[in-house]
Amino acid sequence: MKVLFKEDVFSYIFMLMFLSSIDQCFGVTSDTITTANFLKDGEGNSIVSHGGTFELGFFSPGNSKNRYVGMWYKKISVRSVVWVANREAPLTSRTGSLKVIEPGILVLVNGTNKVVWSTNTSRSVQNPIAQLLDSGNLVVKQAGDGNFLWQSFDHPTNTLLPGMKLGWNFVTGREVYLSSWKNEEDPAPGDYTYRCDPTGYPQNFLKKGSNVIYRSGPWNGLGFGGATNSRYGTFYRYEIVSTNTEVYFQTYLTSTVIATLILNPNGVLQLLTWGDAEQAWVPFFIIPGDNCDTYKLCGSYSSCNSNDFPVLCGCLDKFVPNSSEAWNKADWSGGCVRRTQLNCSQGDVFLKYSQLKLPDTRNSWSNVTMTLEECKNICSKNCSCMAYSNSDIRDGGSGCLLWFNNLLDIRQVPKGGLDFYIRVASSESDDSLEQSNGKKGKTLIWILASSVGVILVILSMLIYHRRRRKVLELKKRGRLGYTGNYKMDLNSGNCAEEFEIPLFDLSTIAKATNNFSIDVKIGEGGFGPVYKGMLEGQEIAVKRLSRTSTQGENEFKNEVLYIAKLQHRNLVKILGCCIEGEEKMLIYEYLPNGSLDSFIFDDTQNKVLDWPKRFHIINSIARGLMYLHQDSQLRIIHRDLKANNILLDKDMNPKISDFGLAKICEEDDIGAKTNRVVGTYGYLSPEYALHGLYSVKSDVFSFGILVLEIVSGKSNRRFSHPDHNLLGHAWKIYKEGRSIELLDECLSDTCSRSEVIRSICIGLLCVQQCPEDRPSMSSVVFMLNNEGVLPQAKQPGFYIERNTKEVEFSSNQHTNVSVSETPITILEVR
Ligand SMILES: *[C@@H]1O[C@H](CO)[C@@H](O)[C@H](O)[C@H]1NC(C)=O
Ligand SMILES: *[C@@H]1O[C@H](CO)[C@@H](O)[C@H](O)[C@H]1NC(C)=O
Ligand SMILES: *[C@@H]1O[C@H](CO)[C@@H](O)[C@H](O)[C@H]1NC(C)=O
Ligand SMILES: *[C@@H]1O[C@H](CO)[C@@H](O)[C@H](O)[C@H]1NC(C)=O
Ligand SMILES: *[C@@H]1O[C@H](CO)[C@@H](O)[C@H](O)[C@H]1NC(C)=O
Ligand SMILES: *[C@@H]1O[C@H](CO)[C@@H](O)[C@H](O)[C@H]1NC(C)=O
Repeated sequence: MKVLFKEDVFSYIFMLMFLSSIDQCFGVTSDTITTANFLKDGEGNSIVSHGGTFELGFFSPGNSKNRYVGMWYKKISVRSVVWVANREAPLTSRTGSLKVIEPGILVLVNGTNKVVWSTNTSRSVQNPIAQLLDSGNLVVKQAGDGNFLWQSFDHPTNTLLPGMKLGWNFVTGREVYLSSWKNEEDPAPGDYTYRCDPTGYPQNFLKKGSNVIYRSGPWNGLGFGGATNSRYGTFYRYEIVSTNTEVYFQTYLTSTVIATLILNPNGVLQLLTWGDAEQAWVPFFIIPGDNCDTYKLCGSYSSCNSNDFPVLCGCLDKFVPNSSEAWNKADWSGGCVRRTQLNCSQGDVFLKYSQLKLPDTRNSWSNVTMTLEECKNICSKNCSCMAYSNSDIRDGGSGCLLWFNNLLDIRQVPKGGLDFYIRVASSESDDSLEQSNGKKGKTLIWILASSVGVILVILSMLIYHRRRRKVLELKKRGRLGYTGNYKMDLNSGNCAEEFEIPLFDLSTIAKATNNFSIDVKIGEGGFGPVYKGMLEGQEIAVKRLSRTSTQGENEFKNEVLYIAKLQHRNLVKILGCCIEGEEKMLIYEYLPNGSLDSFIFDDTQNKVLDWPKRFHIINSIARGLMYLHQDSQLRIIHRDLKANNILLDKDMNPKISDFGLAKICEEDDIGAKTNRVVGTYGYLSPEYALHGLYSVKSDVFSFGILVLEIVSGKSNRRFSHPDHNLLGHAWKIYKEGRSIELLDECLSDTCSRSEVIRSICIGLLCVQQCPEDRPSMSSVVFMLNNEGVLPQAKQPGFYIERNTKEVEFSSNQHTNVSVSETPITILEVR
């Protein structure tokens, strides 16, 4: 028996040697380190997980000479390290080896066999191995056994891979959390952590040291309570699981997309997906996403609204600033207080507050089986209970969440915000007026209120029926090809709904615009004139298209339906359209502040837009364009992006207009090659102007020009300098390290130097000669919002010579382009 056993062992070892020599011959790599087979630095060897997803080996980050054992994606072209073993104990030379030894530990030793890093174990086994699983989990175990002695998923670094549990195990008392690298070249733990906090009701926190800088909001069964930016994609899910023994946050993928959640050295948490087309990581969401993500920026009982920039905070209804003096100086940290003190013995009431991110739940109590009614009862019985809500919003809502402290860190979330109920003095209740006015007043008010209600109901029924009749009529006449299935974007879940846009009669629009009177004409674009009008009490802008001659009615309707589906806060909203015979019109929301060029290029108006507003505008345009390019279901190339096409709402938020029109008004639009160039002198990319080749990267070029214009306050078309155009000027001073001098003089006292320099560099990167050298809009958004090092810009693509009104270009196709200088210019390649 003994002999036989020995033979078995020998044959096993022999087989191993044989197999590993085969591996060497065929370049096949194993996924396992055994006691006989170890990894040695400097020999280019590594192990690769069974499905080929991850690779484990030695590496040096960036320009560092230090050596680390790390894990990265095997299949993608950019080395992306997701885990580091010896993050705090680098090797200084290429002499390390990674071995498995008894009783079952993985050790990293240096050239003189000194252990610099190791795993530990509470059990000992006979034949330990380390195996790299296809999930990215490196495990140590007994060969042939399923129980792990140790796993890297319990020791993450800065990356959360699907399947890892981020949180607390109450049995072992261990916490697993992400910690950022110190910097791009040093994987040692940096300042930032992202962790799941089980106190009160579980939430995730992004922290710098011990300070919270961002809070996810409580888990509500579907997502985080009202978080705006932790988008929940079709390919990606996450949840917080809470049991008696553990609480953890976990992500999982529902498709083959490569996605990782990574915490950067500068404290930005990103969900990145690998873009095969871009051959780069594309951010799916970024946390913090805006100012309102800053933890308790607005103090207590106050909500943050990033659309109200620069006054971000506002007291909740029935609340007033704790200190109005501080509040008026934009110091919101003192928060708000009830305008009427509570008096519990008098019986307080609860008012509903909606579309908000739920307040911090670290001092909350919950019961998942209670109903909302039970929840209210229990909260009203305890005078220190300040608010309540459902803890789970699925299936109409269930469970109970109670707050016992001042309500902190609330923000407005128009889409996906939640409801909760706050305790206020009984005199604040909406029917308190009735009580104080006695019975008579009460009756009167009731009668008034109900008659107003009845009138409103009748009115809306009338309006509905009129609409409905019109829709039916049009359907009968076969004119309404308008109802389509509309899938909502990822932000709001995956529900499908009917999508329809109103079709207006020509007579209605003629009336609304005073018969297209010259007095209400507010612009003349390449696609036709624009009129201001008044329709059903709403201000509208009517674009009368003049260039759709060859397009059929149905095609036109389809196109309009297409672009009307594009909805984003930085795109002008389409309210409807009108088609009658040759007349084709689009009805848009009316934006009172007109277009961006009338501010930035005007010597007096330019002061209205200080640097923070301009930076906000740059960022918002980038987001709108990113949406057109990749977030919307259709990929839309604008083709005529410029300052005149950026409209400003009453709060100076920019909205891109005229998107999709190039498509509507284009006859021959099958390939990305066109014999008619739609666009404007000064914003055209070289490949588009010369060869009619357009892609998303031609929009990126126009965006780059726009950024330089916004920063400098000078129009690229009208820039006058003896030697060069605006691009040339920007490039020259950028090379000389004097970018900041491009800044519009009127901005100098409001500007953030680093934002200005960053914007200029991004602007230049966008106007590179070769489309491939220009970043995608998602990279632009990312670069604008992060402080990482930017790539060096190369000489931009110039093609427009200075001081020319009429220029002729010849390309290798011998086509001529003539350029004129109307506000919106159509270039024809004949
Ligand atoms: C290995 O580590 C030990 C202890 O830190 C050190 O003294 C020794 O020089 C190292 N050897 C090499 C080859 O780096
Ligand atoms: C491994 O080491 C860590 C840190 O030294 C310790 O907290 C943990 O309890 C150890 N685990 C086992 C299984 O021994
Ligand atoms: C209001 O201000 C006072 C004094 O600054 C502070 O002690 C108190 O906590 C504030 N109240 C709230 C609700 O934040
Ligand atoms: C609360 O109401 C009771 C009864 O009306 C009154 O006596 C008491 O002073 C009130 N307390 C406060 C703090 O207003
Ligand atoms: C939760 O509420 C239910 C009643 O809805 C009750 O039976 C149960 O005991 C409560 N659980 C806790 C932990 O309070
Ligand atoms: C109210 O709730 C708090 C927190 O759960 C608790 O400490 C306190 O004892 C309760 N008070 C009453 C009167 O039940």
